[in-house]
Amino acid sequence: MSTFTHHIFVCINQRPQEDPRGCCADRGSERLHAFFKKEVDRLGLKGTVRANKAGCLDHCEYGPSIVIYPEGVWYWVGSEADVTEIMERHIVKGERVERLLMPGHKPGEKA
Ligand code: FES
Repeated sequence: MSTFTHHIFVCINQRPQEDPRGCCADRGSERLHAFFKKEVDRLGLKGTVRANKAGCLDHCEYGPSIVIYPEGVWYWVGSEADVTEIMERHIVKGERVERLLMPGHKPGEKA
């Protein structure tokens, strides 16, 4: 049985086109989830870090939305380059990627 150091939850929620809230799936989150998995492999973290598909994380207006545990750090992710930066800085080095922190989850902000 694997013991994971991190779980990365990636919202892949899909809503109807007419829904005013929009959704992460329409902004490419399935592709980004797949890229997180590729990055886990590239960095040799399979069995240590898990990128999970998630339902709506209730931050739809800022998505694609992710949250990383055990830290409970929230990010919005717009591109594969963002995924790589989160993997290399947050997961590997234990840093925070300030520019990608979800609004409402930045230092000094109330969620
Ligand atoms: S649809 Fe992704 S956070 Fe709600």
